Amino acid sequence: MKTIFSGIQPSGTISIGNYLGALRHFVPMQEENQCFFCIVDQHAITVPQNQTELRKNIRSLAALYIACGIDPEKSTLFIQSEVPAHSQLAWIMQCTAYVGELERMTQYKDKSAGKEAVSAGLLTYPPLMVADILLYNTDIVPVGEDQKQHLELTRDLADRFNKRYREIFTIPEPRIPQQGARIMSLQDPLKKMSKSDANQKAFISMLDDAKAIEKKVKSAVTDSEGTVRYDVENKPGVANLLTIYSLFTGRSIQELEQAYEGKGYGEFKAGVAEAIIATLGPIQEKYNALMESEELDQILDNGAEQANRVARKTLQKVERAVGLGRKKR
Ligand code: AQP
Repeated sequence: MKTIFSGIQPSGTISIGNYLGALRHFVPMQEENQCFFCIVDQHAITVPQNQTELRKNIRSLAALYIACGIDPEKSTLFIQSEVPAHSQLAWIMQCTAYVGELERMTQYKDKSAGKEAVSAGLLTYPPLMVADILLYNTDIVPVGEDQKQHLELTRDLADRFNKRYREIFTIPEPRIPQQGARIMSLQDPLKKMSKSDANQKAFISMLDDAKAIEKKVKSAVTDSEGTVRYDVENKPGVANLLTIYSLFTGRSIQELEQAYEGKGYGEFKAGVAEAIIATLGPIQEKYNALMESEELDQILDNGAEQANRVARKTLQKVERAVGLGRKKR
């Protein structure tokens, strides 16, 4: 049995990018592994958030995890800020990391580009992610491709710590899906789809209704060629829609290309929208039922208790190895 950890930021309602690249892969993993799934709310405040919205998004993300198939009987589902060991270990990992390596992170460069001032937390976000993962003796971290560099840093810092003090941390492996690891923006297919994109038309949220999905897919950027063909370099918009279509239906890209041979983008886009709606509809029904029940808070309370138990143990070992505090009498 392996230990799995993954987190999603409640920085908006999750997009189909988060679902296809990460969340949908969590579900089968629960059968044979010990899984920890986290709502990483402390990561979300590295950029400004409206506090009412953030609270709403945290609860909503918890319900979406479950509606998408996370079973709280099998997995531990919890909120990062309810387990203080995350920020405590993050400090130690910040003291293990070098400023230069944090400045090299592409997500930091992207999110700070063109801004006059960014929070120090945006720079030190990766050591918090490192702490999230290492606290649970994680073997595997299922993530989308954008997190690959942070996972490499996690491995480096765990190894550096183990060599400097003693072998405490398990060195985790990323698990990046072969298809869907990078779903692109519907408005700029050279940029990844992000739930916090200022342009609402750029992403499809897991809670968008059928009408909104149809509208967003219809306005997705394609090209003037007019043929449904998978060519990432020359037709990134169509290639992205084909990937989404294929992942939502289980039909291969080749099969879809054949099915739409000689047909225009209008018909193709209608098919893409229909495929997304068919999957999201039942998820949204479960989500709505959960949001109205008291079950959700009970699940999150239990999750926090289980996560705290494991995380506290690791933190104690780490603090002892580093020499923090006093020797136990
Ligand atoms: N476009 C994407 N395609 C595939 N996978 C993706 N992921 C994110 N975007 C895509 C994966 O989703 C998981 C959760 O991501 P996150 O919420 O922790 O942060 P993120 O990677 O920064 O995602 P967003 O949507 O872009 O959030 P914002 O807009 O707040 O920055 C991760 O496993 C990620 O790889």
